[in-house]
Amino acid sequence: IAGMALPPPDPQFVLRGTSAEVNTLHFYCGGQEPNYPILFSGSSNGLIHIWNLKTRRVDTILDGHEGKSVYCVKAIYGKDRLLSKSQGRNQKICLWDLAEGRNTVTDSIFTENVGFCKCSLLKVAQQCWLLAVPGKDLDEVQILELPTKTSVCTLKPEVDAKPGMPMCLKLWQPDFGSCPFLLAGYEDGSVILWNLSGGKMLSRLACHQEPVMSLDFDSEKTKGISGSSEKMLSVWSLDEQQNLKIQKMHKLVNAGIADVTIRQDKKILATAGWDHRIRIFGWKKLKPLAMLDYHTATVHCVSFSDHSRPSERLLAAGSKDHRISIWSIYNQT
Ligand SMILES: *[C@@H]1O[C@H](CO)[C@@H](O)[C@H](O)[C@H]1NC(C)=O
Repeated sequence: IAGMALPPPDPQFVLRGTSAEVNTLHFYCGGQEPNYPILFSGSSNGLIHIWNLKTRRVDTILDGHEGKSVYCVKAIYGKDRLLSKSQGRNQKICLWDLAEGRNTVTDSIFTENVGFCKCSLLKVAQQCWLLAVPGKDLDEVQILELPTKTSVCTLKPEVDAKPGMPMCLKLWQPDFGSCPFLLAGYEDGSVILWNLSGGKMLSRLACHQEPVMSLDFDSEKTKGISGSSEKMLSVWSLDEQQNLKIQKMHKLVNAGIADVTIRQDKKILATAGWDHRIRIFGWKKLKPLAMLDYHTATVHCVSFSDHSRPSERLLAAGSKDHRISIWSIYNQT
């Protein structure tokens, strides 16, 4: 990380053409050409763009959400199956078949929910995924199994807990095949740890004064980070008794964190700011490393690519300004 004092001055390149706010980004790096990952973006006009990072152009546009804002896009079972979720009066979850040039919705799930919470996916077996989405009741989270779409459990806080709506979700498990957990950030600023086998709340921590906008969790160090509309990042840890504890509060210059994501190698993290800026921190001590200033409106999302070759790893940021900036920051770390 030493030597990262000099921030990269400009994005490596910029993707334009969504004609709408970019809400969510997702890299798929297991393709044929490992140098060029595929980037999926979801926009407020209901479209999903599949970007070719070699040509720096859109390869395919998917239109399956009737103009409703897309908040979640994830590749599952390889690059040819995609899951997307939009929000309107109800949330619609689409499963796409993209193999051999197809772009058809093979399955869709409608559930009653009006929030704008992103979903979380976890691979729990070779062909089996868990999906966490906000549930029917305002404070509920629903866990579905894919591809069967069966409901695994509904996580509902006790009547007097009143955390409000779930705002952000992160499914995780200590080891592949072990018991899965969910970390959920709520409207009242708290983060709750749920045990999915049994659907029980294990711990609750007041992390923020305002709704938790985003969180990420490092299951190796059992340590997580969350951001809200405040000028504060909160770092918290999970002890062996499954209790969440505040580890550190980091004061920011400007208020509002729309997204926070830890890079897969757990060395750095990126935040998406309401102040139009992307910030890079060291994960170990939350040392500020770089401030990336390109966008002209709120940055909604940040996502790291997960190449096998570290020198090719990228950071993508999507903004209200309709643009996606692509940064190469590995060389500086
Ligand atoms: C989660 O719930 C299951 C089933 O009730 C239980 O066996 C397990 O010990 C729980 N795990 C934790 C960490 O509480």
